[in-house]
Amino acid sequence: MNIETLLSALAVSPENIPLNLLLAEAYKADLNFDQAKAIYLKVLTLDSNHKDTQLKLIEVLDLQGELSEAVVRIESFCQNFPDFGEAWVLRARLSFKDDEIGKAREYYQIAMALSSKLKDEGLEKEIGYVDEIEEITDPQVGVGAQDWSPEAIGSPTNAPPNSNNEFDFLSEIEYTKEVDVDFDHVGGMSEVKNDIRMKIIHPLNNPDLFEAYGKKPGGGVLLYGPPGCGKTLISKATAGEIHSSFYSVGLHQILDMWLGKSEEKLHQVFELARKQAPSVLFFDEIDALAADRSDLKGSAGRTLINQFLAELDGAHSKNDGLLILGATNAPWHLDSAFLRPGRFDRVVFVPPPDQEARISILDILSQGKPIDNSSFKSLAKKTEGFSGADLEAIIDVATEKTIEEAMKSGKIIPISERILLKARKEVKASTLRWFESAKNYAMYANQSGMYDDIITYMGIKKP
Ligand SMILES: Nc1ncnc2c1ncn2[C@@H]1O[C@H](COP(=O)(O)OP(=O)(O)O)[C@@H](O)[C@H]1O
Ligand SMILES: [Mg+2]
Repeated sequence: MNIETLLSALAVSPENIPLNLLLAEAYKADLNFDQAKAIYLKVLTLDSNHKDTQLKLIEVLDLQGELSEAVVRIESFCQNFPDFGEAWVLRARLSFKDDEIGKAREYYQIAMALSSKLKDEGLEKEIGYVDEIEEITDPQVGVGAQDWSPEAIGSPTNAPPNSNNEFDFLSEIEYTKEVDVDFDHVGGMSEVKNDIRMKIIHPLNNPDLFEAYGKKPGGGVLLYGPPGCGKTLISKATAGEIHSSFYSVGLHQILDMWLGKSEEKLHQVFELARKQAPSVLFFDEIDALAADRSDLKGSAGRTLINQFLAELDGAHSKNDGLLILGATNAPWHLDSAFLRPGRFDRVVFVPPPDQEARISILDILSQGKPIDNSSFKSLAKKTEGFSGADLEAIIDVATEKTIEEAMKSGKIIPISERILLKARKEVKASTLRWFESAKNYAMYANQSGMYDDIITYMGIKKP
């Protein structure tokens, strides 16, 4: 059918989805990608769950040269519909265009595992895919009734020969019996503090009250935001706030040494924290468990992720008195299975400090130093976009400069406003880069409104 015919048919029934799709195809054949895109967007407003149309839209974006937007969208599509094979083929093709051959092969392999009917010989040649008969487990996470007891998991079969013994492994986890920071040591962040109080501290202290209102205990809080803005600090301070012990697990670093033995290890960490309850169990860089991390792609990685989910669910041991916190700079890499009820079901944005918060952070960071704190107001005015860690760097630089001067003059002089402002010029605001990439995810991968806080913070409009 030609465009004219389709247009006149649509004049009668403008919301007819199949007709609209035909028209979009016709425009595409005409290389009129802008019109095709507009129609796909229209179809998605009629039926936002139309998966084929979502993929078509992504293809058109690619044809228009909008490769990065296409990539962002396909990533989130695959996350939401992990068993939609066509999407993995498209993702493979886009990764190839994006010079990510290794990833392209992985994604293609997932597609093949889902359905061999999706075979695309042209693409196979381009990405150098050889059909190895390799078993791939279902990419969907956390489904099915599996037994996660240590007995059922059994002893790991592929543990490296020099695998770490108990002692080494525990030494990689930061454990603090009595934490010496509480919320007073964290500047600003009043909303985040309130969230943590409401979501995990109060329920821990008043379980009956919360139950009376039908609020189930359990689940964790996921903190996300630009680096250096206090996610780790406030997690530790949460333990200080309730006088509990604090376990901190940095996942990136630890995953590698765990590979092969990791389910067992993970279970032990949870068990340790459960024994010490009440305790705060903090997982830093939780995006290390991301679905697209290549070494977690195979079945071993899946097992580990499922184990983590089962521990969060308290499937085999109760998580009473356990406050679970996670932090990440890249929440979009995290499998949506982590965010389901009872898991990290409370997601909290930790923004850069505002002017008032910067003053209080400067106050906290400069405690015990001879410093002219009447100057913090003007410094705070000039440090928009600076993280708490950046402010710490300014104080460090200023301290060094002052010590130099003090040595020359032979007496103790306070850290002055002049020196602070000079130091400020040597430190860059580090949060801006984070927002550049966060913006894309907030605009194009924000299905459940998870990143609305970023949108509000940046003062941008939803597309
Ligand atoms: N709100 C804050 N109050 C006081 N210090 C802060 C704050 N935010 C960051 N800092 C300082 O910056 C350092 C790094 O912060 P951190 O908690 O590790 O950030 P993130 O985990 O978000 O990357 C902290 O150890 C602390 O010295
Ligand atoms: Mg941190």
